Amino acid sequence: MPTRRHVLEVLAAAAPLAACGPPSGPDPVAAWRNPGAGETDPRRWALAHAILAPNPHNRQPWLVDLPGRDEIVLHVDRTRLLPATDPPNRQIVLGCGAFLEVLAIAAAQRGLRADVTPWPQGEPQPVLDDRPVAHVRLAADASVRPDPLFAQILRRHTNRQPFDLKRPPAEAELAAITAAASAPLTAGSVTDAARRARLIAVGGEGFRIEGATTATHMESVRLMRIGREEIARHRDGIALEGPMIDGLAALGLMSHKTLADPKSFASRSGEDMWLKMLAATPAFVWLRGPDNGRATQLAAGRAYARMQLTATAQGLSLHPWSMTLQEFPEMAGPYRETQALLDASPAAPLQMLVRAGRAKPAGPAPRRGLAEHIRA
Ligand SMILES: Cc1cc2nc3c(=O)[nH]c(=O)nc-3n(C[C@H](O)[C@H](O)[C@H](O)COP(=O)(O)O)c2cc1C
Repeated sequence: MPTRRHVLEVLAAAAPLAACGPPSGPDPVAAWRNPGAGETDPRRWALAHAILAPNPHNRQPWLVDLPGRDEIVLHVDRTRLLPATDPPNRQIVLGCGAFLEVLAIAAAQRGLRADVTPWPQGEPQPVLDDRPVAHVRLAADASVRPDPLFAQILRRHTNRQPFDLKRPPAEAELAAITAAASAPLTAGSVTDAARRARLIAVGGEGFRIEGATTATHMESVRLMRIGREEIARHRDGIALEGPMIDGLAALGLMSHKTLADPKSFASRSGEDMWLKMLAATPAFVWLRGPDNGRATQLAAGRAYARMQLTATAQGLSLHPWSMTLQEFPEMAGPYRETQALLDASPAAPLQMLVRAGRAKPAGPAPRRGLAEHIRA
């Protein structure tokens, strides 16, 4: 096993070489440039924005039908679920809610009101089935005003960095973020040292449990895209890129095989990095609803999109830390403790737990492009 120092020295030499050369495959972030340009159907224009919504593990499971002239029917691509980390498909539904909210914000920009009917054929339980998630009708409405959050859609990115502990978010900034969640959802923030320390400790335990549980760990490892070629080929999942990653990959130290081994250099360095990032959390924000029904989960996803866009408008970054909200059996202890810490319960659980703070802006995550989401 090479020492970390030795690896870093070799990388310093190898990384610039590994990082150069022409990009291969489709541009993974093309969807972020001028979305919907040239589209004449306003539904497609709004959808080109909706696919930029936050969603768990960047699975982008959204499939749409476009019947008639003004309707959109949203389905979930069930080959893109996360059965190990998200057994009830709750987080996937939140990602659908975020998609619907960005869709509605984009529609308003064109003077269109999005009338959303959630679960038009009933709520699937205990897991999703083939029934649609939502029916949307875009209606011309002279009273619809552009939403100021539209300007944040292209600037919003999940930011996985240590946040600046010396410049924590101000109470007024956190209040604006939590106010973006409207009734019946409730949102709040945690800044006091004692509860913050507890959330960091339990969040770290959750991270370790997810990594030590083969099914959940391997689900994430399979979705890691290592280096530019894999990222361009899949344009989804967890993108690992940059000179450091390219250098480690070139040395054989970063691969799906090394990541699968919790004792490898890549896994241990990854754990170090994530736990340091978690420790550098000046504030958490959380979101919960009155129950855990599918309609509440969808509304929570819509609220989370608004919260993150509001944070972006204020120059703040958000980063969900979802491990301890996950419903697989090995996580039961940290799940219970996290719910109790924030006065939630399994019947009306937390839907999101999110790091909040300031950091260098993050770049865009890959997207597969609108064509991949429209059913023939
Ligand atoms: C319900 C939900 C749960 C999420 N949980 C996590 C998480 O635990 N860790 C993380 O790093 N990102 C998490 N994210 C963020 C997604 O990974 C991110 O939205 C996705 O990779 C796309 O990147 P973007 O938000 O920068 O466009 C979550 C997002 C949603 C909607």
